[in-house]
Amino acid sequence: MSLDLGIVLPTRNERDNLPSLVTRVEEALGREGWEIVVVDDDSPDGTADVARDLARSDPRVRVIQRFGRRGLASAAIEGMCATAAPFVAVMDADHQHDPALLPAMLAAVEAGECDVAVASRFVTGGSAAGLASETREKGSRLANRLARKVTGVELTDPMSGYFLLRADRLRAAAPRLSGIGFKILLDLLATADPPMRVKEFPLEFAARASGESKLDTAVAFEFLVGLYDRSFGRVIPSRFALFGTVGAVGVAVHMAVLWLLFRLAGEGFALATVFATFAAMTFNFWLNNRLTYRDARLVGGLAWLKGWAGFCATCSVGALANVATATLLEARGVFWVLAALAGIVIGSVWNYALSSCFVWGR
Ligand code: GDD
Ligand code: MN
Repeated sequence: MSLDLGIVLPTRNERDNLPSLVTRVEEALGREGWEIVVVDDDSPDGTADVARDLARSDPRVRVIQRFGRRGLASAAIEGMCATAAPFVAVMDADHQHDPALLPAMLAAVEAGECDVAVASRFVTGGSAAGLASETREKGSRLANRLARKVTGVELTDPMSGYFLLRADRLRAAAPRLSGIGFKILLDLLATADPPMRVKEFPLEFAARASGESKLDTAVAFEFLVGLYDRSFGRVIPSRFALFGTVGAVGVAVHMAVLWLLFRLAGEGFALATVFATFAAMTFNFWLNNRLTYRDARLVGGLAWLKGWAGFCATCSVGALANVATATLLEARGVFWVLAALAGIVIGSVWNYALSSCFVWGR
């Protein structure tokens, strides 16, 4: 029997879940015609070693271990591109996805009933009971609604991590996939050309067998940034939008410190302004480092201090540009509010460009 289905298991600390999952896949699909590709992001718990142990005695199991890289979506894409099977599936390695659905999903795609078979928690007969908390379930439904709105994909569960499709269709779409975060299926459906026909299969999302979820606030944040990029990213790049938002909050910080020192503590205005400026710059640097440039984040005392100094230097250049633009325009008779706004825009674009390049190296 020839190889029919490649099952990709992205893993991050799933050591204890792998061996029994291979058994369950065999129970569902029989002894032959499939292979498992474990894509592990160098899990500290030694998942890759466990996978290699399995693979040594079972040639149906293959292992990709990635170093210095993280991310469910990119792992799934690489795994799907690494199998020679004509059909590929992705599923969680933590037993939340029941392998018993695989035969029906495969049959539907093989018969051409659909291009992608999706195991869905929110279709009749499915359930999301295995989500760890009520907050998580609410968050999941909200993410689904947002995703459907922004991409126009009509599907009850576009965030599902359990799906199956033809490998050639995946390879055709792969160059356009972002590989960011958890939203692989959503990306696939949103960029597919021609559009993919979907069939949903009710999934009873089980509780995690062992270990814990890796879907954290950083992943959720990345998801929102991704949706923003699709909607407005071409008009105002998400990084600049974040930088601007952080800047606006920084103004509030500036005002608060100024008020505290000048009005409350009775310090001189000039001194209070100097403190307020440094407080705002420090705050902006800290938040930009965490959000706007989270992918190039500076960590460790020295790197952080150097970054902060560079950021302050950049900001003073921006402040000069701001003041010069505003006074120039105002002197030419431009309404003062407009002149001030123009100064702020020029100053922030300047700060953004300089700090992006010299502080975070992007
Ligand atoms: N290689 C790799 N790298 N694998 C990862 C990474 C990573 O950075 N992060 C998570 N995984 C693996 C996990 O080890 C697991 O096998 C699978 O991806 C799903 O991750 P979980 O951390 O268990 O996600 P979840 O159960 O909270 O999220 C589920 O629901 C989401 C939507 O609400 C999953 O089904 C997701 O696929 C789904 O998007
Ligand atoms: Mn899970």
